[in-house]
Amino acid sequence: MRLITIQGDTEFASVEQQRRLVSSAPSERDLRSIVRINAEEMRHGWQMSYLLVQYFGDAGKAEARKLLERCADRRERLLGAFNEPVEDWLDFFTFTAFVDRDGMYQLKMLSHSGFGPLSRSMGPMLNEESFHLLTGLTGLQRILRAGKVPVEIVQKVLSRWLPVCYDLFGHERSRGAAKAYLWSLKGRFNEEIAGPVTDPETLNEAARGLYYKEVQGLVGLLNKEIGDGKSKLSVPDLKFRRGIGEYKDKRFSVRGKPLDEEAYTRHLGEVLPTESDRQELRRLMKEPDWIAVAA
Ligand SMILES: [Fe+2]
Ligand SMILES: [Fe+2]
Repeated sequence: MRLITIQGDTEFASVEQQRRLVSSAPSERDLRSIVRINAEEMRHGWQMSYLLVQYFGDAGKAEARKLLERCADRRERLLGAFNEPVEDWLDFFTFTAFVDRDGMYQLKMLSHSGFGPLSRSMGPMLNEESFHLLTGLTGLQRILRAGKVPVEIVQKVLSRWLPVCYDLFGHERSRGAAKAYLWSLKGRFNEEIAGPVTDPETLNEAARGLYYKEVQGLVGLLNKEIGDGKSKLSVPDLKFRRGIGEYKDKRFSVRGKPLDEEAYTRHLGEVLPTESDRQELRRLMKEPDWIAVAA
């Protein structure tokens, strides 16, 4: 019930985070994409609610009700990334490319669940999810191709979102993750090829490692859109600005270098989006050519 509740909570949350952007879509096609994504996230939320109501008695009904009562705008959602404001279309594409990708990892792990109604729910959700990931990645490619938004600002937005994605995988060592696996409530992302489990308490870390590697490949793809001689994007270190686990609240740079308090505060001011970056984005996004036309 807990696993389903958390999954459902993220689905409704992402609708709350994204819905305001409907009025600022850069094109008709982007408008259709965001509406489709919102509708599908809503459907994922209902699908999880259905499982709670159908299979978990009064306790499940109470949890399903709470899925609709909590609100991302009040930062009441269960996982940090789903309380973060999605402020503009650069955020939206970054969110769908990287936060939804984390969601896809979770769905794939749940697709191995021994609880049939849950694992059978995952196929259709995963199909829809792949559209969200593609929308995000191609959106970022189109922004970089257009060359109007400074790469430095795109980098700052990546540096803001990726640490919360790393957090979504949970603690490096987790008894909860071990139990979920040993009780067959959840599998591994790469279950088919992963071989025997040596230490079930490290399954979160293994999933995060796979995600990190995939993200590096995707950022490599994004870099192909950036002209020669310009600075390229990089993936923030796993220790940077973490809110969960071993590195929680510790002071590391985006490159993973330990910093003292003063240097760290200065560093955050340099590597995360500032109010003036947001202003510049708002100004740029009023121009018609800030993002390339979808292929
Ligand atoms: Fe979803
Ligand atoms: Fe999604």
